[in-house]
Amino acid sequence: MESMGSLKRTHHCNALSAANIGQEVTLMGWVLRRRDHGGVIFIDLRDRWGLTQVVFNPEINPEVHAKAHGLRNEWVLAIRGRVEARPEGMVNPKLATGAIEILVSELRILNQSQTPPFPLDEEVEVSENLRLKYRYLDLRRPGMADNLVLRHKASQAIRSFLNDNGFLEIETPVLTRSTPEGARDYLVPSRVNPGKFYALPQSPQLFKQLLMVAGMDRYYQIVKCFRDEDLRADRQPEFTQVDMELSFVEEEDIFAIMEGMITHLFRETIGYKPVTPFPRMTYAEAMNRYGSDKPDTRFGLELIDLFTEVRNCGFKVFRDVVEKGGMVKAINAKGCATFSRKDLDDLTAYVGQFGAKGLAWVKIKEGGEWQSPIAKFFTDEERAAMTRTLDAQPGDLLFFGADSPAVVYAALGELRLELGRRLGFIDKKTFSFVWVTDFPLLEWDHEQRRHMAVHHPFTAPAEEDMALLATDPGKVRSRAYDLALNGTEIGGGSIRIHQPQVQRTVFATLGISEEEARDKFDFLLKALDLGAPPHGGIAFGLDRLMMIIAGRDTIRDVIAFPKTQKATCPLTDAPSTVARKQLTELSLRPDWKE
Ligand code: AMO
Ligand code: AMP
Repeated sequence: MESMGSLKRTHHCNALSAANIGQEVTLMGWVLRRRDHGGVIFIDLRDRWGLTQVVFNPEINPEVHAKAHGLRNEWVLAIRGRVEARPEGMVNPKLATGAIEILVSELRILNQSQTPPFPLDEEVEVSENLRLKYRYLDLRRPGMADNLVLRHKASQAIRSFLNDNGFLEIETPVLTRSTPEGARDYLVPSRVNPGKFYALPQSPQLFKQLLMVAGMDRYYQIVKCFRDEDLRADRQPEFTQVDMELSFVEEEDIFAIMEGMITHLFRETIGYKPVTPFPRMTYAEAMNRYGSDKPDTRFGLELIDLFTEVRNCGFKVFRDVVEKGGMVKAINAKGCATFSRKDLDDLTAYVGQFGAKGLAWVKIKEGGEWQSPIAKFFTDEERAAMTRTLDAQPGDLLFFGADSPAVVYAALGELRLELGRRLGFIDKKTFSFVWVTDFPLLEWDHEQRRHMAVHHPFTAPAEEDMALLATDPGKVRSRAYDLALNGTEIGGGSIRIHQPQVQRTVFATLGISEEEARDKFDFLLKALDLGAPPHGGIAFGLDRLMMIIAGRDTIRDVIAFPKTQKATCPLTDAPSTVARKQLTELSLRPDWKE
């Protein structure tokens, strides 16, 4: 192995073009490919910027050429040589450096490499576990490196926008008390306080509110949050928020500033200009039309209510549901009457996963008659009324869901997305934003038999619903909002409670006793008692934003070192066992088998 010695890198591997022909240059990087063309050896030398073709010619420098014979993929090189024009016909217009090559006069092998466990050409499919185990190799692959570069640009764009708008970047503790965001906490035992635990923050929620009480006025942080919850393609146990809080603001102020930030972010990363202001939709409307509080508004296929049409009908399934206070909704899959029996069976099984007990369907024939196992249960008038409401034309396929609202929303909402995917309605190049507003403040938890905060317990109730807190808490709307993008919740926030009396009332409505409130949130209540300004904020999921901006299907692809679906890290083998002595020091007594 050799050292770099006096060699100093003059350019990176994507920098040279026809303008540099004739110059002496020094490049450093990895062997991506090696080709032996009848004596002349070609190497694509790669670094994170790109690649440059380097040439070893036996007639010009036999010694260096002989040395190049031994080079293998992923060896680390320094080369010195002259920039030459590629011969006629060898120019590669797709490559930034495609017009030139380097004729090498000096080669230093800085390090060798064993054969990598998988080829580093982007096109090759590799199992994710292997990719994560050798993440540093995976990240050498061009697509993955691009994602990290894009993420860097995104963080810089966000910072620059917020700096220009009066926000201060302030760090908050990682070893802290539990912040209720609805997930389980990651706990850290305290050695010096036996039997006591820190919780890793699910978000910096309470600290950012305290910073408003401290008069910081506008805060932001690009910050890790920790939640022990079931993992999915867009959920990691540790993930990054762009977290913000502002004083003396209302919803409109926050929407305007955030739309500015998102516009700046999309322009600086991928040159896309979103249309502002973003559309808005209440939670109730989102559920009714899309069956989801994060609607994918890139395509139609909306859910349509049939309560009036079916409430007295002869189909027992529908009538029973209506009588029990459930709902009947349908989707008109335009032009899909050609779906096969198997398609219909597949879709029925699909909605079954979301609790649907069946999936009634109707094909509209030429002339408008219904082909369907349930056609016979309806009168001519009922069929005509449904046909009208659903705007059903010959060639259309209608799907029906009848159940409790929760099941109908989940089943038809997911069916809608699945149909959108199958029919190719989902355009990855479209970015469809929508603010969802007027969430309910509380939801009833059947297991715990008490109300829970839909957002978090510091969210302000809508002023006009305040009186309902005492009489009908389930009906109270909150001042929370989410931003959905292409069917993903990319951010959420709220106007907060800043008056201590309101906070105490909301705690009480949540079934949090005075004593528990004092134990867990005394510091917050004290701060609210000591001159808290009106304030509100929002946090964006940076990983989710980057997944969409980079056009990926999982947030793992935009995180340098993500965890698996089982919250493990194949690279470091975390989580790992620890020595018994460490546990003893922490006053922990294990009851698992070793
Ligand atoms: P919330 O819980 O909605 O709000 O989180 C804000 C955003 O963070 C992202 N997110 C996640 N991303 C990846 N993996 C996860 N496990 C995960 N959980 C959440 C989502 C979500 O919209 N303190 C409040 C914000 C506020 O009120 O200001 C909060 O944390 O994109
Ligand atoms: P059945 O009378 O149970 O044979 O059902 C007739 C049709 O209605 C079948 O296509 C079922 O898939 C469908 N179906 C049954 N229950 C429901 C429901 N709750 N919602 C929608 N469709 C249903």
